[in-house]
Amino acid sequence: MRHLLNPLDFSVEEISSLLDLASDIEHNLPRYAHVCDGKKIATLFYEPSTRTRLSFESAMLNLGGSVLGFSSASSSSAAKGESVSDTIRMVSCYADICAMRHPKEGAPLVASLHSSIPVINAGDGGHQHPTQTLTDLMTIRSLLGRLDNMTVGLCGDLKFGRTVHSLINALVRYPNVRFLLISPTELKIPEYIREDVLRANNIEFVEVDSLDAAMPELDILYMTRVQRERFFNEEDYIRLKDCYILDKAKMKLAKDHMFVLHPLPRVNEISVEVDDDPRAAYFRQVQYGVYVRMALIMTLLEVAKPC
Ligand code: CP
Repeated sequence: MRHLLNPLDFSVEEISSLLDLASDIEHNLPRYAHVCDGKKIATLFYEPSTRTRLSFESAMLNLGGSVLGFSSASSSSAAKGESVSDTIRMVSCYADICAMRHPKEGAPLVASLHSSIPVINAGDGGHQHPTQTLTDLMTIRSLLGRLDNMTVGLCGDLKFGRTVHSLINALVRYPNVRFLLISPTELKIPEYIREDVLRANNIEFVEVDSLDAAMPELDILYMTRVQRERFFNEEDYIRLKDCYILDKAKMKLAKDHMFVLHPLPRVNEISVEVDDDPRAAYFRQVQYGVYVRMALIMTLLEVAKPC
């Protein structure tokens, strides 16, 4: 039995196969309508979510399976003090696979140690968000036709942004990927990513604070939200929340074939006037998230591709 807790749990070859399967699903959706008949996914969300929870549920329903779960800690027995390890023992009796989001880093790992069903990390604190990364990889591969030889700008909250940490971990395995890390000093990438992931793998990267200066160099711009829920005080949040706002004027500085991704939700960091730009790919990214989660559920449940 396999879990997905970290993007590195799958090899580059396994990710390539999973993205191929997701792409086949995209183009032949009806063929997959019954491959998970009788199977159930439990979505255990101790933290708010729109996309990740609903896309897991949509994915399982598209495959013919069913869904159960909870969408907040307060509506589960966690509110009475039940531990993650006890909860997963119960859920293993009710479902065939589960996706867990938790504010504490490592909670899905703890669950996996006590689970008899595959556990998918759907985001743990400021740590990792591997299924967002699979979504991002599918989006980039679909838009650029490759996952190598590119310059990726990551902009915004690089300190607490789990999507950024997971994406860097995944992309350093592809040749000639260069990073521009665009953030205010207070929200710079954590040292363990800078030293243990980027420097340890001899990856070319620059830490900068100007989005304008970075724009012309980029093949992909990955915008992120400054996350109010990760700050210890409101004053710092208010000071930093609008440090980057992508608007039409900034888009004029970019290449014609640069694409903008964002894990969403957005607040102010991308002006709605950018949404109609053909290079704005963040809503297409959401659709890819369903296909990639369908492929992931099939892979972890060892469901064969239909003939
Ligand atoms: N991208 C993402 O994780 O969105 P949600 O928080 O809405 O799940």
